[in-house]
Amino acid sequence: MQSAPPTILCRGVTKRYDLGARSVEALRGVDLEIAGAGFFAIMGSSGSGKSTLMHLVAGLDRPTSGEVTVAGARVDRMSEAELTRYRRRQIGIVFQHFNLLPSMTALDNVMLPALLDGMPRAASERRARELLDELGVGARADHRPDALSGGEQQRVAIARALFFAPPVILADEPTGNLDSAAATRLFALLTGIARTHRTLLLMVTHEPAAAAHCERVIVLRDGTVAGAFDTTTPEQGKLDAGSLALRAQELARPTR
Ligand SMILES: Nc1ncnc2c1ncn2[C@@H]1O[C@H](COP(=O)(O)OP(=O)(O)O)[C@@H](O)[C@H]1O
Ligand SMILES: [Mg+2]
Repeated sequence: MQSAPPTILCRGVTKRYDLGARSVEALRGVDLEIAGAGFFAIMGSSGSGKSTLMHLVAGLDRPTSGEVTVAGARVDRMSEAELTRYRRRQIGIVFQHFNLLPSMTALDNVMLPALLDGMPRAASERRARELLDELGVGARADHRPDALSGGEQQRVAIARALFFAPPVILADEPTGNLDSAAATRLFALLTGIARTHRTLLLMVTHEPAAAAHCERVIVLRDGTVAGAFDTTTPEQGKLDAGSLALRAQELARPTR
């Protein structure tokens, strides 16, 4: 199903929120290039623009200026109809709060975007069951979200995100509502997914231990990219969570 190369390219991206007399510059000129499958982290203090950037890449909102190109397509220029299709087919989104429909079973939650897209029920169900099995929640397919643990709900949400084999998956604090054991299992799962599905997985996190699972960390500060570094360095090898936190904090520190 997958065709477009997994890439995210931002050029001079700004985002201003106008709130009556006041306005907030959430992004002030983001330049960012991530090319190829892998697991990448975005870090930065609260309010640095992480979620705003994810929303623009996801096509949930439009930049005030600048270019957002994902898998070769200019997301900032898409019509509403193109954005709907883009969000369904080209991007998978995983949220902190899972965002599953409470009245539907796990299986129906995973199938829903496909049914909305006109895919026949039998084929949708086959694909959904295959993904739920792969994520280790096949036995929970007929349960509604409130009968599932947080970790299980997030696996169902990931199965839904993977349905159309999108080149890019975005996750905004995906383990924010999980205990640390469930979070650790989820990171192992996400690492495996980036590899086996050849997906570009971009995760917002404020936890160094989470970012340590990624191969590269991009740090935002005041709505711009303050810097980026690989989590494996020639000098230190694989950075542990402590060293990673130090590097991220150095970049995130206000310069004013
Ligand atoms: N929908 C919105 N309306 C107004 N201001 C917003 C909105 N979303 C975010 N902001 C503001 O933009 C800035 C960046 O927010 P956000 O992208 O959520 O940061 P982060 O995810 O890094 O904490 C903050 O000052 C925030 O208050
Ligand atoms: Mg946020």
